[in-house]
Amino acid sequence: MSGATDTAGLSAAAIARIDREIAKYPADQRQSAVMSALAIAQDEKGWLSTATMDAVAAYLAMPPVAVYEVATFYTMYNRAPTGRFKLTVCTNLPCALSGGDHAAVHLKKALGIGFNETTADGKFTLKEGECMGACGDAPVMLVNNKRMLSWMSDDKLDALLKELSDAADRGEGAPNGGGKP
Ligand code: FES
Repeated sequence: MSGATDTAGLSAAAIARIDREIAKYPADQRQSAVMSALAIAQDEKGWLSTATMDAVAAYLAMPPVAVYEVATFYTMYNRAPTGRFKLTVCTNLPCALSGGDHAAVHLKKALGIGFNETTADGKFTLKEGECMGACGDAPVMLVNNKRMLSWMSDDKLDALLKELSDAADRGEGAPNGGGKP
């Protein structure tokens, strides 16, 4: 179905990646690729606008609302622009009791923001996460959904912020990062 619909400005490379995901399923079940397609779109755009989700829906021959449901259910999908680095800290009970809450407080203080906020310099967005399946490694967190970090002491958190801040200065991190539409 390549080229048959508005792809909301997704690159040919992104569409090719989505096509590879679609090819993993029977021809009449292309919507099974929705999670992968949204992740690929987000990799390229940095976040999922309504236009992007609508394009994914059209490409997968799904009702847009079905795509919105997926995008709003999973915290890995960004429904608004984020900073270059989205930090998601697990604060579910097992982690909360093992340092997760402390790590969240430390990050809030170090960044000067609360959950669901982005630093003024556009480098960081802080999120509260659900169980990441690594409860024994608390405090645990994700950077931009893909880099998992364990046993995040205050010192390790500070080192991480320095590393990512430097990376943001080099223009690394989420595309279109900066917390602005
Ligand atoms: S509760 Fe945090 S990883 Fe499971």
